Amino acid sequence: MSQLLPVLTENWDVERSWTLEGYGPYAALDRALTLEQDAVIEEVKASGLRGRGGAGFSTGTKWGFLPPLGDLPRYLVVNADESEPGTCKDIPLLMASPHTLIEGIAISSYAIRSHSAFIYLRGEVVHVYRRLLAAVREAYAAGHLGKDIHGSGYDLDVIVHAGAGAYICGEETALLDSLEGRRGQPRLRPPFPAVAGLYACPTVVNNVESIAAVPAIIGHGPGWFDSLGTETSKGVGIFSLSGHVKEPGQYEAPLGITLRELIDFAGGMREGHTLKFWTPGGSSTPLFTAAELDVPLDFESVAKAGSMLGTRALQIFDDSVCVVRAVLRWTEFYEHESCGKCTPCREGTYWLKQVLARLEKGDGTAEDLDLLLDQCDNIAGKSFCALGDGATAPIISSVTLFRDEYIAHFEHGGCPFDREASVAWS
Ligand code: NAI
Ligand code: SF4
Repeated sequence: MSQLLPVLTENWDVERSWTLEGYGPYAALDRALTLEQDAVIEEVKASGLRGRGGAGFSTGTKWGFLPPLGDLPRYLVVNADESEPGTCKDIPLLMASPHTLIEGIAISSYAIRSHSAFIYLRGEVVHVYRRLLAAVREAYAAGHLGKDIHGSGYDLDVIVHAGAGAYICGEETALLDSLEGRRGQPRLRPPFPAVAGLYACPTVVNNVESIAAVPAIIGHGPGWFDSLGTETSKGVGIFSLSGHVKEPGQYEAPLGITLRELIDFAGGMREGHTLKFWTPGGSSTPLFTAAELDVPLDFESVAKAGSMLGTRALQIFDDSVCVVRAVLRWTEFYEHESCGKCTPCREGTYWLKQVLARLEKGDGTAEDLDLLLDQCDNIAGKSFCALGDGATAPIISSVTLFRDEYIAHFEHGGCPFDREASVAWS
């Protein structure tokens, strides 16, 4: 039986946890500054920390991809453009404990020999922007940022930048374009940002939660983080439970915990209802059902079961939900957020929406189901970035898992859930 383990969320219940007083003295930064930069990178690499933004790439390895130090500056960019439907971990973390991230930025920037770090924040969350600015100001005043940090001779500036509200700017290269003042659209990779990123300089782009984990890793020292989690998915992670559980919210636990255990921590399912389907990693991942309740939530086990751990955005849907309608809502989102750069995604998401809307209304046909899957086949793997693939994932898996429910829509001439509102359909 796995237990919850608050690490990044440890001080969230402390009074005024978002202030320096509520956070503490940046002790991990003190320790990092006594180490050689490469030793810090080695500790992060050895901890097994893998990117918490969704892809799960080894953080220490990514830092190690930077080319040898030359004339060009190096940058650290924190991706705080959290926008994936269901994903709600970075923004709560920034509201509750912005200094966890800022201390992580100071340690990580020191390790990669960067003197300028950027936080690219989702544009809509103005309240988070204000909180972050206040925390950065506090950190400067206390000597945790700026010149000669903690008397070490190391200098670092941190810039908080708010985006303009586009999901695609969470894709790391679109984010860099946006940060440079251009329209945010993905760049061709390679070159990866590690080689040519912000202003064509070597750049590390990491998710908020990845960088926020660094103070705990350095503070505890070698051998702690990698003692948690599973064989290849080390440490703790924040699992965001939303939807039909009694107590939705953020639950931090070692990777490898199961949804069954997390639902127990969240008070169980809504009274009188049972689990119908869920997303393990946000709406861009194939759906799971009750059959996967005991799959360990680590990168490998979730992939082996046919989906992706992604951002650990666990959206829980009970038997009152029409899966066709839920998938249509996600598809409307992707169609709206497609940046338009490539044809399969720009045109494809538009047509996915048309066909799905027809099916959901009860005006579709059996041929529409084949057409839908054919459209997905023309988008997945043929689009310029992961948004196109992500848009097709819930559609394909929902047709596979709930084909009868799609058929019932056109056989009954409408959504069965409209006639039997909130009653389980079978
Ligand atoms: P990716 O696997 O292509 O790259 C992961 C990271 O490793 C990137 O930072 C990349 O630059 C780096 N990398 C990979 N190979 C490299 C190499 N050879 N040299 C240097 N660096 C290398 O994944 P990507 O496209 O960056 O992210 C997709 C993920 O984003 C998805 O898994 C999805 O779950 C997640 N996502 C998260 C959202 C959120 O709101 N947090 C929104 C949408 C998607
Ligand atoms: Fe833009 Fe979609 Fe193509 Fe990505 S897949 S580049 S979001 S049009």
